[in-house]
Amino acid sequence: MKPVSLIQFLIEERRAGHINAELSLLIEVVARACKRIAVATGKGALGGVLGAAGTDNIQGEAQKKLDVISNEILLEANAWGGHLAACASEEMEDPQPIPDGYPKGQHLLLFDPLDGSSNIDVNISVGTIFSVLRCPDGVTEPKVEHFLQPGTTQLAAGYVVYGPSTLLVLTFGHGAHEFTLDREIGSFILSRRDIRIPEETGEFAINMSNQRHWEAPMQRYIGELLAGQEGPRGRDFNMRWVASMVADVHRIVTRGGVFFYPLDAKIKSKGGKLRLMYEANPMAFIIEQAGGAASTGRERIMELQPTGLHQRVPVFLGSKQEVELATHYHHAAD
Ligand code: AHG
Repeated sequence: MKPVSLIQFLIEERRAGHINAELSLLIEVVARACKRIAVATGKGALGGVLGAAGTDNIQGEAQKKLDVISNEILLEANAWGGHLAACASEEMEDPQPIPDGYPKGQHLLLFDPLDGSSNIDVNISVGTIFSVLRCPDGVTEPKVEHFLQPGTTQLAAGYVVYGPSTLLVLTFGHGAHEFTLDREIGSFILSRRDIRIPEETGEFAINMSNQRHWEAPMQRYIGELLAGQEGPRGRDFNMRWVASMVADVHRIVTRGGVFFYPLDAKIKSKGGKLRLMYEANPMAFIIEQAGGAASTGRERIMELQPTGLHQRVPVFLGSKQEVELATHYHHAAD
């Protein structure tokens, strides 16, 4: 079969009435920026991009040089195209307006420019996660409140994995699709249309070092998986944890599985570890479009009404049966 490039795919999606020309352009621009980030991450030590930038982001986390570089690449690429009303980044306290003199569009872009950045210096996969919302009608200078829309209103979401190959997974709410970067020709090529996550799985992802801090229902659920054949589940489960959400999610999108970053006593006051607007909502949209489920342990992630741009939430996502069982244990204990 003839290869389908991202550009061809976007034209098909426009013809099908799933997206308009402005959203198509926005995705092209984000994909182009991600190719530049892939080049920067690929250079590693030779590009002088490894190590700390010497600054903290809004979350109070030490920034890596590549966090800062990736953020700048995405901001610069999106400033002039005329498809955005504003953008917001995990790395910046406030939304970034479109600079004076450039045309404005109808979309709001949110991104985590380099997720899993603690893995950069050890040459493990990192990624970019993004979410697209519509700017409310009549708003010309979008403020934080205009970004605070539930995940169900997302028009598009995607992530790019910078790993052994560079991959883009994208949804517009009509299935989730995977594109692989052909490095020779510089194009993303459709590699899987309509990804489906198996409902059942024998593999889970969680940072087990936090076990003693988890709530009782999480202890119960994971305890049962660890008990294997002798336990109530009657079978063995395997565990994987990359500590790059993009890589852990991509494994689930490829061979099934379930991912947890639950609430624990250490992070309870913050509401969770992962960011609702930059990580949980876009990943939940993709996972649901691939037939999986995404919950906080108590509610569907995409139905949460956001209260802050940098809000954190617990995240359970992946194979439907496991997300539902872990969520059921939380409801039963409440
Ligand atoms: P960051 O982007 O600050 O590196 O955060 C990474 C996130 C996510 O990608 C990953 O699943 C999780 O944090 C890892 O957390 P632990 O370090 O607690 O394992």
